[in-house]
Amino acid sequence: MIHCIEKNPFIPLIEQVFSNEYNYTGDLANLHKVLEKLPTESKEECIKIFTIGKDDRRNIFIKNFHKYVDESDQFTQTYHRFLKKYVQPLFPDDKIVIQKTPNIRFSFPESAAIGKHATENKDIIGYHCDSDFGHHHTEMNFIVPVTKMFGTNSLYYEPHQDSQIPIPDYENLVLSTTQFFQAYLNKQRHYNKLNLTNKTRISFDLRVIPYKKYMEHLADFQGTKFELGKYYIIL
Ligand SMILES: [Fe+2]
Repeated sequence: MIHCIEKNPFIPLIEQVFSNEYNYTGDLANLHKVLEKLPTESKEECIKIFTIGKDDRRNIFIKNFHKYVDESDQFTQTYHRFLKKYVQPLFPDDKIVIQKTPNIRFSFPESAAIGKHATENKDIIGYHCDSDFGHHHTEMNFIVPVTKMFGTNSLYYEPHQDSQIPIPDYENLVLSTTQFFQAYLNKQRHYNKLNLTNKTRISFDLRVIPYKKYMEHLADFQGTKFELGKYYIIL
């Protein structure tokens, strides 16, 4: 399901990160131009297609983002304000447990935002659903774009769980920067393709669990990285 927002509050913050780090003041959809200025090793870290969960955090741009989140509370304040305004109302009966820091994804031209997984098909990169990686079935997923998401810079997803739709026929997620996406990616399978759009895609993804459901399944979370205060916090 696609939801609309008035103004995307994350764009100026992410612009600030790359202006501070690289003096880059252009359109974020052309952020790949910064890659030319990086030392070869950092550039390769950014554009190589990683193995899911193993080395996908080595990307220098992802590190730049996390440094910014750690050093200032501006991002966290904006993130919480966004969730209170647009996501909390989608759960009217309950407070919500949210992913403490969202994942940031970069899909550069000729690369992809997520890594390889068990698939032989080069056109289908990182095919999975989140429960494959130990995510809890009570999670709901949200994707918030920072640049326009379209075609091969975006993802492809199964419109509903157990759809039996052939993988190459999955839906392409098209989002403007004044929209965000909600889906049950815990069970709806999804993947990336090689980005052939000439535009960088930057987006956030995060998970939300209604508080009562989290408490009902508390034992599943205890002793794992998904405990409150670690991966999740109460909004
Ligand atoms: Fe996923």
